[in-house]
Amino acid sequence: SGFFAEKKLLQGKKVLVTAGGTVERIDPVRYLTNDSSGKMGYAIAAQAKRMGADVVLVSGKTTERVPDGVEFVTVESALDMYEAVLSRFEQTDIVIKAAAVADYRPAEQAPQKLKKNNDELTITFVKNPDILQTLGQKKHGQFLVGFAAETERVEEYAMGKLRKKNCDLVVANDVSADGAGFGTDTNIVRIYDAQGLALQLPIMSKTDVATRILTLVASRLGSNKG
Ligand code: CTP
Ligand code: CA
Repeated sequence: SGFFAEKKLLQGKKVLVTAGGTVERIDPVRYLTNDSSGKMGYAIAAQAKRMGADVVLVSGKTTERVPDGVEFVTVESALDMYEAVLSRFEQTDIVIKAAAVADYRPAEQAPQKLKKNNDELTITFVKNPDILQTLGQKKHGQFLVGFAAETERVEEYAMGKLRKKNCDLVVANDVSADGAGFGTDTNIVRIYDAQGLALQLPIMSKTDVATRILTLVASRLGSNKG
């Protein structure tokens, strides 16, 4: 919320942010999720609003407070998030995909609570659609920022995701490092683009990371190819 964040670099821009973890139901009272806290995505949504953007926040599971002035859409599963994001993509200038989307969901959702009738339980999982990759295929001028949560070979995996998903920027974080990743108020990220940018940021608050990402996006708007 310092001076730089107050400059309206994103005035009039429509920004869609996804945040939090998706919830993949097994039965009416049980589900699979992940360690995402939503803090990074919520910080981005709040900063984008302060920078003058019209912000839609599509959120999975989190305990964060909804930032003021942001259009809020809650979703549960990856399929719900897919629908919420795809239906808004045409009216969006910038998409920032900070959500931790479950890669798989249970093949079947039991309509009633499962009973402990057996000594073992096997659940088959099927792959969820990749929301960001779908946007990368459909985009025509929208600016796409992906995240890459890694525990090893950060640059190699992040660059792979940048190319495969046709992103304009990828924000990589080593989620196993101290002061980075899930649940912390700070993050340590590296930002990559397809032209060789490899910007290593020092440890900083997620709010400051958000400002850095959004300032970089604002400086590049209009120069991205569809
Ligand atoms: N993502 C998505 N839809 C999915 C899975 C991931 O939109 N079904 C997005 C995430 O929101 C993130 C980026 O893709 O912006 C990278 O997510 P990540 O989990 O790091 O990579 P994956 O492509 O899922 O590959 P893997 O988990 O195997 O590393
Ligand atoms: Ca994944």
